[in-house]
Amino acid sequence: MRTHYCGQLRAEQVGKTVTLFGWVDRRRDHGGVIFLDLRDRTGISQIVSDPERTPDSCEIAGDLRNEYVVKVTGRVTKRPDESLNPRIPTGEVEIYADQIELLNAVRKQLPFQVSTSETESVREDLRLKYRYLDLRRERMAKNLQLRHQVIQSIRRFLEDQEGFIEVETPMLTRSTPEGARDYLVPSRVNPGEFYALPQSPQLFKQLLMVSGVDRYYQIARCFRDEDLRADRQPEFTQLDMEMSFMNQAEILELNESLVCHIFKQIKGIDLPRPFPRLTYAEAMDRYGSDKPDTRYDLELVDVSDLMQDSGFKVFSGAIASGGIVKVLPIPGGNDAISNVRIKPGGDLFKEASDVGAKGLAYIRVREDGEIDTIGAIKDNLSEAQKQELLQRTGAQAGSLLLFGAGDTPTVNKTLDRLRQVIARELGLIDSEKINLLWVTEFPMFEWNADEKRLEALHHPFTAPYPEDAHDLKNARAEAYDLVFNGFEVGGGSRRIYQPDLQQQVFEAIGLSTEEAHNKFGFLLEAFEYGTPPHGGIAYGLDRLVMLLAGEESIRDAIAFPKTQQARCLLTNAPSEVDTKQLKELHIAKIEKPGK
Ligand code: AMO
Repeated sequence: MRTHYCGQLRAEQVGKTVTLFGWVDRRRDHGGVIFLDLRDRTGISQIVSDPERTPDSCEIAGDLRNEYVVKVTGRVTKRPDESLNPRIPTGEVEIYADQIELLNAVRKQLPFQVSTSETESVREDLRLKYRYLDLRRERMAKNLQLRHQVIQSIRRFLEDQEGFIEVETPMLTRSTPEGARDYLVPSRVNPGEFYALPQSPQLFKQLLMVSGVDRYYQIARCFRDEDLRADRQPEFTQLDMEMSFMNQAEILELNESLVCHIFKQIKGIDLPRPFPRLTYAEAMDRYGSDKPDTRYDLELVDVSDLMQDSGFKVFSGAIASGGIVKVLPIPGGNDAISNVRIKPGGDLFKEASDVGAKGLAYIRVREDGEIDTIGAIKDNLSEAQKQELLQRTGAQAGSLLLFGAGDTPTVNKTLDRLRQVIARELGLIDSEKINLLWVTEFPMFEWNADEKRLEALHHPFTAPYPEDAHDLKNARAEAYDLVFNGFEVGGGSRRIYQPDLQQQVFEAIGLSTEEAHNKFGFLLEAFEYGTPPHGGIAYGLDRLVMLLAGEESIRDAIAFPKTQQARCLLTNAPSEVDTKQLKELHIAKIEKPGK
């Protein structure tokens, strides 16, 4: 019965009788002639009900209100020149409504305006509570469409061009070691035992390689109970892939083709190839981050060697205890950033101290080239040291140099944070730019100071470079992350496929043979039966869609997301359950203190 969607009508349809279904986006009464904007997921058409030309639809048109659901049949007519609307694709035509049928009314007051003509911003908690209405709005409807198109282009590429097959892996499973807390599901039929929802399909996809699947992918739901941020959800979706018999270069090559395909399909952009590559060591050195935003410069400079015997105790002390001194040089920063902001109580000081810095030393290069700084640095740097510092950091008249001194992770975290905040503030980020890069050669392990043990940086199934395998603890891993404008959108590795090497890695992270067998015995056993060399990657699909849509929150890329407190405001999950249900599951509640 529907002949067209609302967004489809053009001048070519003038003279045709069409039938549309949709929602009343808004209604205007021009002295008896009623104009309706009729909306469906494709867009808007203007409907006219005129007492002289279309008397049959007039009475009902007068009664319609925003968001009523209607069927309209009428003639497509060219709009008079003075009412052409170039802002919408259907703006050349309007439909004279011979018939309007009311299919459903709105019975309650709308919690917010849905109309595309409303620019008012709506509180996010309201949007999430009435998500079904929020998804009617143009911005979110577009994001949903975009997400669908991204997934569609992924499937086309992987299935039609590259021979991948999609395999579903279980949701009720054992804990996978991706490093976050698990969401647990009690088993009624196995009293006292729990499934874990998958943090990723990692182990199953490796087992599928043992099975000879060769090229696997899945649009996979993953669950991680971790602190939430603007780019993290407790329940999120990965594009998960695994391939056999491919070396790292081949894996990266195939993935660049995939990403280029997505960008071409979605944005019509040809990305330059190969994508730039940075080793982990280089990324940390130059940007203090393993996911640097390279749309702007502001590169860090290590000046530890220059400062190690400076009389400035904060610097020489940091270096003596195994740390470093690095500089973030900011061209134009002398004018743009006041001392008040860098000193205790200032906003930049707070950014730095939030990530562990104890203070922020600085040097200003005045417009006349005069060097200006706080007392302690000034008095303890020789003229030659100052000059060398300026030269190495590329400082010029008008620059500000911010120093980080202390242990390497804290210095890097501090300057990375300041780099991002300052780039945003100084308008150095070109939002039209798309920078994709691979970060490679991650270390196998990092030191977990709380637990006093090594921890797999990626996950414990990641293979070391063969030439590094003799010294596992200091080995580089064949791991790679894809970074998109400063966000980690994907990460993967080549895997260990030899049971004895896998065992050694478990030992290195402090898993005893017995523990390793309890947790991953099935994997070690599978490796005994002829395992191909393999590797893979997983993309954060929600994150990718967020960035492609130009959104700043991952929630705007997901139909029904959770809040930062991991709640669903629409269904009000999580919720209490009946005692009867708990009993069946053999679960007793421990009351929260003070309840
Ligand atoms: P990793 O843990 O790096 O790797 O996850 C892959 C990608 O998933 C996205 N991501 C998230 N997105 C939203 N919310 C979250 N809480 C969240 N956590 C991760 C990121 C990340 O790059 N099994 C390995 C992959 C492999 O080795 O093949 C894995 O899960 O964009």
